[in-house]
Amino acid sequence: MSASLVTRPAIRVEPLTCALGAEIKGISLADASRSDDLFAQIKALLLKHKVLFLRDQDISRAEHVAFARRFGELEDHPVAGSDPEHPGLVRIYKSPEAPNDRYENSWHTDATWREKPPMGAVLRCIECPAVGGDTMWANMALAYENLPAHIKTQIAGLRARHSIEATFGAAMPIENRLALKALYPDAEHPVVRTHPETGEKVLFVNGFTTHFTNFHTPANVRVGQDYTQGMSTLLQYLISQAMIPEYQVRWRWSPHSVAIWDNRCTQHYAVMDYAPCHRKMERAGIMGDATY
Ligand code: SIN
Repeated sequence: MSASLVTRPAIRVEPLTCALGAEIKGISLADASRSDDLFAQIKALLLKHKVLFLRDQDISRAEHVAFARRFGELEDHPVAGSDPEHPGLVRIYKSPEAPNDRYENSWHTDATWREKPPMGAVLRCIECPAVGGDTMWANMALAYENLPAHIKTQIAGLRARHSIEATFGAAMPIENRLALKALYPDAEHPVVRTHPETGEKVLFVNGFTTHFTNFHTPANVRVGQDYTQGMSTLLQYLISQAMIPEYQVRWRWSPHSVAIWDNRCTQHYAVMDYAPCHRKMERAGIMGDATY
C-alpha cells in the first residue's frame, strides 16, 4: 500500500469540565511535530479548550521541543534552568533533597513579569508521585465574563504592574534580587486583556501582580488611605477569581502525560500536596506577544 493511502485515526476529544480543558486521544505529539495538518487540529482545539491533555507521550526531548516550536520560539527561565542540550526546555524538578523548594505553589499565569508574556507552554511529566502533585488550570476569560457589571466598568481602563523581583526575587539576597530586577524590570499590562486570536476579554492579574498603576485618580481617591485600601482590596478580589472551582480543571499526572496550555487566557497551580519525593516535569515555554 502506498504511504498516501494510509489514513490516520481521527483525534478523539473528551472535555474534562464545563469550564475548560479536554483530553485528546489517538494522537502522538511526535507525529504532530512533523505534520502541518495534525498541528493545525491541535492548535484549533487549544483555542477552543484552553488546555489540552494527552497521556502516553513517550517522546524524546527533541520531539517535545520540535512540537512546541510549531507554536513559536521557545524561551528559558531566569530562575529555573533548562536542559543543557535543549535550550527552552525548562526543568521543573522537585526532589526529597530540596523539600522547601515550593516556589510553584501559587496561582499564576507564566512570566507576566515579561513585557511579552509567554503565549503558552507544553509541559511533559517525566516522573511523578504515585498520588498527589496534580496541576490545576483556571479559565480567566470565564472569570472575566462572570464579574459583576460594576466591577467590569471599574476595571475597564486599569493597568497593573507584574514583578519577578517581588516573587521569585523575594527570597534572594538583596544584591541578587536587584540584579534580577535590572535584567527583568517590572512589566505593565492591562487588567483586562484581549486575546489576540479569539478576541475574548480575559482577566489578566495573577500572583505576579503587585499593584495598579493608574488607579490613583481623583475619581477613585480622596486621600492616601483610600488609595491603599481601595486599590489592594480590588486587586485581591480580582486575583482571587482564579480560585473559584467552577472556573477550574484538575489534571492527575502519570509519566509521559502532557499538558498544553494557552497562557494568554488561563492561570495554573501546581499542587504541592505530596510528601518529599521526586517530581520531574519539563516545560517548553513559547514566547508571546505584547498585551493590549
Ligand atoms: C508551571 O507552573 O509552569 C509548572 C506546573 C507544574 O509543574 O505542574
